[in-house]
Amino acid sequence: MAVKKTKRAGAASVGDVFAEVGRAPRRRIPDDEMDPEVAYQIVHDELMLDGNARLNLATFVSTWMEPQAQRLMAETFDKNMINKDEYPQTAEMEMRCIDMLGRLWHAPDPDDAPGCSTTGSSEAAMLGGLAMKRRWQDARRAAGKPIDRPNIVMGINVQVCWEKFARYWDVEPRTVPMEGDRFHIDPDEAAALCDENTIGVVAILGSTYDGSYEPVAKVCRTLDRLQERTGLDVPVHVDAASGGFVAPFLDPDIEWDFRQDRVVSINASGHKYGLVAPGVGWIVWRDEEHLPEELIFQVNYLGDVMPTFALNFSRPGSQVVAQYYNFVRLGFAGYRRIQQYARDVAQDLAREVERLGPFELVTRAEDLPVFAFKVRDDITNFNVFDVSDAVRERGWQVPAYTFPANREDLAVLRVVVKRGFTHDVAGLFIADLKRQLPRLERQAEPHDDAEHGAGFRH
Ligand SMILES: Cc1ncc(COP(=O)(O)O)c(C=O)c1O
Repeated sequence: MAVKKTKRAGAASVGDVFAEVGRAPRRRIPDDEMDPEVAYQIVHDELMLDGNARLNLATFVSTWMEPQAQRLMAETFDKNMINKDEYPQTAEMEMRCIDMLGRLWHAPDPDDAPGCSTTGSSEAAMLGGLAMKRRWQDARRAAGKPIDRPNIVMGINVQVCWEKFARYWDVEPRTVPMEGDRFHIDPDEAAALCDENTIGVVAILGSTYDGSYEPVAKVCRTLDRLQERTGLDVPVHVDAASGGFVAPFLDPDIEWDFRQDRVVSINASGHKYGLVAPGVGWIVWRDEEHLPEELIFQVNYLGDVMPTFALNFSRPGSQVVAQYYNFVRLGFAGYRRIQQYARDVAQDLAREVERLGPFELVTRAEDLPVFAFKVRDDITNFNVFDVSDAVRERGWQVPAYTFPANREDLAVLRVVVKRGFTHDVAGLFIADLKRQLPRLERQAEPHDDAEHGAGFRH
C-alpha cells in the first residue's frame, strides 16, 4: 500500500513536530531515520488518547507503583527471566517469591511446593489445567481406561482464560450456571457435573463478575462426599487471580487454600492485588506429586540445571524483581494495610452509590474490594450502558455488561478499587456520577445496549 511521505516524520527537532503539519508513519516502516526526541514526542503524544490508567475502575491490574519499584523495574527490564544462568539473582528472587507464596497459601511443606512465575493468571491457568489433565491421563492410562474425553468443571462466571484452556487443550468445559441471586458456582451442581473424565474443578477467589469469593471449602467437602459415594477423586484448582493476594491478609480464617487437602494448585496475578505493574502471575502446586515430571523442562542455572514450566520463553525480569521488592518492602502488615484500605474505600463507595437512588447493589465489596451494581428495575429510561458512557465523559472507565446464563437478564456496572484509589478520588467519582443523573433521568429511553453502544465494556 502506498504511504504518503510526511513532513512530520522527517522533522529534525521536537519544535518541528508542532510547527510542521504532517502525519507519523502508520502502516509501513518509514524509509529514513528520525531524531529520537522527535520520535519520542510523536509516540508520546499519540498515547495521550489512551484512557488515564488511574481512572480505570474496570481493570483488576495495578495502575500505581512506588517510585522505588518503578526504578527497580527500569533497572531490570533488560534481564531475560529465562536466562537463569546469566541472571542467577533474578532467578533466586523468583524462587523466594514462590516459597513465600507457598507459605502464604499454607502448602503442607512450602519448601516442597513447586511453582513458577508466569506472564499473568491466564498463563498460570493453562499450566494448572495442563498439570491436572496430565495427572488424569496418567491415572487413566495406568488403569487401562480411555483418555479421549477429558472435561473440566467450573462456574459459568469463570474468566475467559478457562474457556481458552478448555478450547486450546481439547478439554470439554462443563459449567454451572448462575441462578437467582447466586452469581457463582454451586458445590452440589458442580459435583453433579463430575464423572470419571473430570480432570478437576476450578473454584474462583473471587469472581471477575462481581468480586465474590466462591465457597472453595464447600466445593471440597462436596467432592469428598462424591468420593465417598462413587470413588471419584476430583482435584480442585483455585483461580485466586485477585483473592490470592487479598484473602490471606484480610480474611485469614477462610480456608480456601492448601489447608483444603483437595486443593492441588493455586494461581494468582502478581499484577493485580500482588501490587505489581503488568505482567506477572504465579502458580504454586501443593507438592511435587501434583506437577507431573514430564511437563518440566530443565534450563541452565549457575552451571547447574533448573526446572522450568512455562508456555513462553523470553520475558523481562522486572516484574518478578518488583514482586520481590513488594514482599520485602510491605511485609504482611503492609499488604494487609493496603488491601484493607482498598476494601474500606470500595465499601464506602458502594454505599454512596446506593444512596444516590437509581441504583441497587448486587455485591458490596465484602470479599474482593470490588462491587457490582445495577439500575433499579423500575427505571426504564436509562440503563447501565448509558451510565458507563456518561461517566466516561470525564474519563472514568466503568464497565457495563450482562451476566451469563441463567442471569442474562441482569446488566451491571462494576467498580474495582485498588491501590492508588483513595477516598478522595472516590468522592470525585461519586460527584461526577451524581452530576450525570439529571441528564440520564431526562432521557426518554435508553440510548445504548450491550451490542450497539459506544460505551466501554469489559
Ligand atoms: C478470576 C480471574 N482469573 C484469571 C484472570 C486473568 O488474569 P491475567 O490478566 O493475570 O491473565 C482474571 C483477570 O481479571 C480473573 O479475574
